[in-house]
Amino acid sequence: MAHPSLSEIPHLLQRISEEARAHFGEGKVANYIPALANVKPNQFGMAIACVDGSTHTVGDAHVPFSLQSITKLFTFVLALRAEGDALWQRVGREPSGAAFNSIVQLETENGIPRNPFINAGALVITDILTSRYVQLDYALLGALRRLADDPELHWNPEVARSEREHADRNMAMAYFMKSHGNFHNDPALVLDNYCAQCATEMTCAQLAQASMFLANDGRDLTLQGQPDEHFLTADQTRRVNALLLTCGAYDAAGDFAYRISLPVKTGVGGGIVAVIPEVGTVAVWSPELDAKGNSVLGAFALERLVQLTGWGYS
Ligand code: DON
Repeated sequence: MAHPSLSEIPHLLQRISEEARAHFGEGKVANYIPALANVKPNQFGMAIACVDGSTHTVGDAHVPFSLQSITKLFTFVLALRAEGDALWQRVGREPSGAAFNSIVQLETENGIPRNPFINAGALVITDILTSRYVQLDYALLGALRRLADDPELHWNPEVARSEREHADRNMAMAYFMKSHGNFHNDPALVLDNYCAQCATEMTCAQLAQASMFLANDGRDLTLQGQPDEHFLTADQTRRVNALLLTCGAYDAAGDFAYRISLPVKTGVGGGIVAVIPEVGTVAVWSPELDAKGNSVLGAFALERLVQLTGWGYS
């Protein structure tokens, strides 16, 4: 299939948005974090940031939403930059085939989580970063502000507090891993950091921009030509994208690969970010989730996008 020219993208986005909106009502807004249950369900936004520097948006693409697990992508990248391959002594890189918040594999696998994107794996990553940064929230926000080129990015304290008050399962996983020696800090402190991290808010336009290095061999476009333009090496970037393709949608990763064939990261706030290597990044947001915690309209919109453009592994 011939790929579309960039001038066709606004029309494409309009079409996908209209088709997607017919699916309102098919999912449910996350409610296990009470502050997220108040989000209005009938919202849909989509943004495509292209490596040529252009950004195209439709619908609610400028409304901030809670990134939740999408932050696991960025914390993983920070840990990879800091630790390199030593990271793999603490966390695996296989799909789990289990729910994002499942605890069961930890028992038979010596407290080593399957991958950095399930909750257990992301908690280990936050533990690693907690050992490294006195104020992890500032370290993370600093990186995100740089990548999104927006000094105002923040996390929402009300959402963080709401999750922290209902974090018993994540806390249980942290203690379980600690009993195996795979958790080095006080679980309560790591959970504070983790809940703040998950409560980071961005719009689709910002998220697409912040993820752009993944479509651009690790280069941060906003620093093009400067000595530190590489946020990751090209080799690291390829590896991160491989993990996103195989593990980014939890126990729906196979289904996502079949339908969308792009590296993705999803979050229970209803966001999904997808990487189209060499082309750009797509961020889509709609709060209603399917049974596995992934955005119904978000997955639909990405599936239509690859069908209509031929982007991806076709
Ligand atoms: O730890 C949690 O359960 C949430 N803060 C994040 C989970 C999440 O976003 C899963 N994604 N689909």
